[in-house]
Amino acid sequence: MIPGNRVRLRAIERGDIPTFLKWVNDPEVQRYLGRTPFPLSFAQEERWFEKQLNDERSRIFAIETEKGVHIGNIGLHEIDYKDGKATLGIMIGEKEYRDQGYGTDAVRTLLRFAFQELNLHRVSLEVFDFNKRAIRCYEKCGFRHEGVAREDSFRGGKRQDKILMGILRQEFEGDKDDPPDDRGRADVRRVSHLPGHRQP
Ligand SMILES: CC(C)(COP(=O)(O)OP(=O)(O)OC[C@H]1O[C@@H](n2cnc3c(N)ncnc32)[C@H](O)[C@@H]1OP(=O)(O)O)[C@@H](O)C(=O)NCCC(=O)NCCS
Repeated sequence: MIPGNRVRLRAIERGDIPTFLKWVNDPEVQRYLGRTPFPLSFAQEERWFEKQLNDERSRIFAIETEKGVHIGNIGLHEIDYKDGKATLGIMIGEKEYRDQGYGTDAVRTLLRFAFQELNLHRVSLEVFDFNKRAIRCYEKCGFRHEGVAREDSFRGGKRQDKILMGILRQEFEGDKDDPPDDRGRADVRRVSHLPGHRQP
């Protein structure tokens, strides 16, 4: 388990598959994700889960609130230990939990893990230009705009730009909203006693 301030990140479990399926088949969620928006079957989602178990370059975590509610997933992908880099993906699948700061805390928690435990140097991501909430969330976490892939994808009947964003370890460590003295310790106290906590 990786403790954050308002969330904790735990390993995904086979029993989570029905929840994943509900989220990825929601057209409103699909709109924001990079994948082709075909409806997915349980068998396909199971296959995806099995693939994750054997993929050393990708680590996906369930995002849980303080009360143990599973509200979304977050992951590091294309992890490259030689160059010290990875890409980040996130989805708060439970809509009523959006816009409450959970996404920002989950991203900060995973960045802290990536830089301080995995010793990565850089984390990057791609986001559709129309996804203003996600862009704001990433900016709050210290991601910088690094470029635009113009008319990269087709969504909602038209070509969409994709924004490339990235953050370096030194930029994250200079983040005043995540001061070194508070990192981890208070968070561990806050979440470790909570009921419903599941070890990976
Ligand atoms: C993107 C996502 C991870 C963000 O998580 P979240 O918990 O909703 O975000 P937070 O509450 O931490 O932060 C959202 C910020 O965006 C702002 N925001 C919301 N809608 C906005 C809009 N239309 N334009 C600009 N800013 C907006 C919020 O006000 C908040 O900023 P503030 O704290 O300065 O007020 C989550 O909404 C989500 O999973 N969405 C669907 C899937 C998705 O888009 N995944 C990312 C693909 S790249």
